[in-house]
Amino acid sequence: MSDHNAPNDGSTGHEWDGIRELTNKPPTWWAWGFYAGLTFVTCYYIIYPSTPMNNKVQEVVNGVTGMEVFVHGHTKGIMALVNDNPYYQGEKWTQDEINDLKAKGHDELTIKAGDMKYLDGWTAINEMRDDVAEIEAIRADSMARLETMTADEIIADEQMREFALGRSRVLFGDNCAACHGSGGQGNLNAAHPENSFPNLTDDDWLFGGWTAKIIETITDGREAAMPPKGGNEDLTSADVDSLAKFVLALSAGDAELNADGELVKGGASFAGANDLFQETCAGCHQANAKGSNKNGDFDTGAVNLTDGIWRFGGSLATVTQTITNGRTAQMPTFGGGKLDATSIKILAVRVHELGGGEKEPMLDE
Ligand code: HEC
Ligand code: HEC
Repeated sequence: MSDHNAPNDGSTGHEWDGIRELTNKPPTWWAWGFYAGLTFVTCYYIIYPSTPMNNKVQEVVNGVTGMEVFVHGHTKGIMALVNDNPYYQGEKWTQDEINDLKAKGHDELTIKAGDMKYLDGWTAINEMRDDVAEIEAIRADSMARLETMTADEIIADEQMREFALGRSRVLFGDNCAACHGSGGQGNLNAAHPENSFPNLTDDDWLFGGWTAKIIETITDGREAAMPPKGGNEDLTSADVDSLAKFVLALSAGDAELNADGELVKGGASFAGANDLFQETCAGCHQANAKGSNKNGDFDTGAVNLTDGIWRFGGSLATVTQTITNGRTAQMPTFGGGKLDATSIKILAVRVHELGGGEKEPMLDE
């Protein structure tokens, strides 16, 4: 219990269950900290917008002093008086400035002509808005440059290349990742080979891997088609089986063809299969089986069968299914208003830079 009758022992005479309240002075460092804190708060209070005030009082005080001591229901702070930044001065928005902001995409803008700029004097939010406006100005400049530069120029310019890669990340996620994977790694679907999508990070191209071709692919889409049995209905299932095993041997490097379609590796065991291949398949996959792209045809999409990279899958069952039933696949069209030319260009930069980007080949040499 408290006891009021025990003075002169360094205590206030208060005691609670044996705990006494002493009269010691606070330590000096603590007192200085306290005064410094008090000074800081007072200065801050005068310099920055702070004390909320009733609108009526605001009117009266502003009227009597002839100054905007209060704006929007709180003190304005003397920072607003000494700084020559228009926002601190409490200037008002003009209709032209508002139109300009709207043109820059601030559709959520509810500020009306005659409103105080940024509502009032200095605030942390106003400062942030200034910083954001500055960043947007820089970004707008880079966006304008993206529009005029070619994809190859962008790739050659380190800074613009980084900018294009940054800008295309969301575009790729929104438009391409569903099929090609978030990193462009593609998808080899063993259970449903027809739902496989090509890997864009390797240097195995179906339709050409330089920027002009990639732009063409994205803009116009692609549709590669392999007819059932390569279009030769006379093929028996035994023929299909020997062709499938031949294709597996080609991809594993156990058999090899030269440019004239002659077996230079693999020998007699594949002679019959190769005859069938040259007769039925070489028209699209080419005599050397390296596919259309490697032979200078960038539009057919006939797969390279010698590289061990599979578009639909490399098990005997899947290859047999591919040859028996054929395959068709479609890369959708993104031109014609779906994506604008600049978006397609920076997506092409992204795909090119994913790993296997090529230079345009010298086709005339
Ligand atoms: C609906 C699925 C789908 C979407 C979405 C899709 N693609 Fe494709 N893409 C494909 C298919 C399928 C192919 C292979 C076409 C073929 O074999 O006929 C392909 C092929 C490609 C190729 C050619 C690769 C090569 O080896 O030549 C590129 C490049 C490509 N896509 C880029 C993109 C980009 C960039 C986007 C996003 C703007 C995109 N794709 C969106 C399904 C899709
Ligand atoms: C008319 C052209 C054409 C003919 C003829 C043709 N192919 Fe194809 N083949 C293609 C195309 C195009 C693709 C890729 C299909 C796609 O992407 O939709 C393909 C894909 C394949 C694949 C899939 C490879 C992988 O990576 O998954 C195999 C295997 C194949 N062909 C084998 C053959 C064999 C064997 C023959 C002969 C019996 C043959 N093709 C005849 C055009 C053809």
